[in-house]
Amino acid sequence: MGNVTVIGAQWGDEGKGKVIDWLADRADIVVRFQGGNNAGHTIVVGNSTYKFALLPSGVVQGKLSIIGNGVVVDPWALLEEIERVRAQGLTINPQVLVLADNACLVLPLHRDLDSAREARAGAGRIGTTGRGIGPAYEDKVGRRAIRFCDLGDEAALKAKIERLLAHHEPLRRGLDLPEVTAEALLALLREVAPKVAPYAQPAWRVLGAAIGAGRRVLFEGAQATMLDVDHGTYPYVTSSNTVAGQAAAGAGVGPAAGGYVLGIVKAYATRVGEGPFPSELTDETGERLGQRGNEFGTNTGRKRRCGWFDSVLVRQSVAISGIQGIVLTKLDVLDGFETLKICTGYRVGDRTLDYLPAGLSEQAAVQPIYEEMEGWTHATRGVRSWRELPAAAVNYVRKIEALIGAQVAVVSTSPERDDIIMIRDPFGK
Ligand code: GDP
Ligand code: IMO
Ligand code: MG
Repeated sequence: MGNVTVIGAQWGDEGKGKVIDWLADRADIVVRFQGGNNAGHTIVVGNSTYKFALLPSGVVQGKLSIIGNGVVVDPWALLEEIERVRAQGLTINPQVLVLADNACLVLPLHRDLDSAREARAGAGRIGTTGRGIGPAYEDKVGRRAIRFCDLGDEAALKAKIERLLAHHEPLRRGLDLPEVTAEALLALLREVAPKVAPYAQPAWRVLGAAIGAGRRVLFEGAQATMLDVDHGTYPYVTSSNTVAGQAAAGAGVGPAAGGYVLGIVKAYATRVGEGPFPSELTDETGERLGQRGNEFGTNTGRKRRCGWFDSVLVRQSVAISGIQGIVLTKLDVLDGFETLKICTGYRVGDRTLDYLPAGLSEQAAVQPIYEEMEGWTHATRGVRSWRELPAAAVNYVRKIEALIGAQVAVVSTSPERDDIIMIRDPFGK
């Protein structure tokens, strides 16, 4: 079928946006299937840099872009993003952007709750992006969310608002947040409804028809396996399933439609927000990785924590998401390091583990076991062919491949779209 599902295999920010944009050239449709505007995907094409939080990265190549039902959508953030990228020259209209009419909204009260809870949690905070993503998903599974299909049905909308506020009012009082009246929320929604209405459609039908007609689809994951609400470092995770298996449910297609599972993996490790990070480096080497890799959040600007490549976690992601091939990104960031380390297992007391256990205190107790590798001085930045890579870089890539049990299909050597080494075509052609 030739479809590809792209997911992050670490803690996010692996370079999914760059890879999607590069692959989109040969795809017809790009679909987001989970997360919300907690995501930050950066795409660099020549002198232009695009930053997306909600829009699928296919819009740069002018491909039909779908925000699936599994995404929670802040309509104000979406409209702002549309205006921002239009100002950069991209075309966004209902012919290129479809918003699932059964997707749930992120409302200002979700952002309030996210921030107030984080502020109260102090040292116990998750380190969320503050975009209201967790509370919005809570309302979705609590069956009180407002969906795009509700916006045009005033009577139903009023009843839904009552139900939603009956839940939120006691929470807000407990957190000293000001009251939200039904009238005020209704007025906000009335105002935004006509602006988003042209995009809202039964996205599953659009996708189903396209797949039936042989169109090629790219499923664009946000966040990553280690931030998955089930499989990640819970509770230091996001509130959605981020694994490849979510692509079908979050887009409204069958599981076979996902096609080839392409995991995006950074050549070292980063994490933003709180939570376990066994191979974290809090020393000068970590600083150097952060500086060289420009490890600051795409949308939040937060400094990312950095560490050595952890093959245990990536191998776990390969298993959980059925990853068939990976794109190894940011190899160039490692240029000039005399030696490199790869975490190959964990030590807990006198035991060794080849996986990250589920419990938080067990996760905190694991000590990384490292294998040291020779670095390279020759620059890999911008390299586009395998034979131009220094021998030590080739060894590093091959080592990773052997440790994680998946093929490196592609290597990325700079933020620029075409700075790519293709070893195996993810589309199989
Ligand atoms: P995403 O959330 O997975 O899409 O990743 P982000 O866009 O948040 O972060 C990845 C950052 O690394 C972006 O600024 C990209 O422009 C940049 N990037 C992507 N691939 C490479 C690469 O191979 N080398 C370098 N140096 N930067 C890259
Ligand atoms: P992309 O798609 C990195 C992290 C937050 C926090 C946790 C929960 O750019 O890879 P949330 O706001 O989702 O409730 O925060 O998840 N997080 C990300 N970290 N990249 C992302 O997205 C992230 N989206 C959420 O930092 O630790
Ligand atoms: Mg990002």
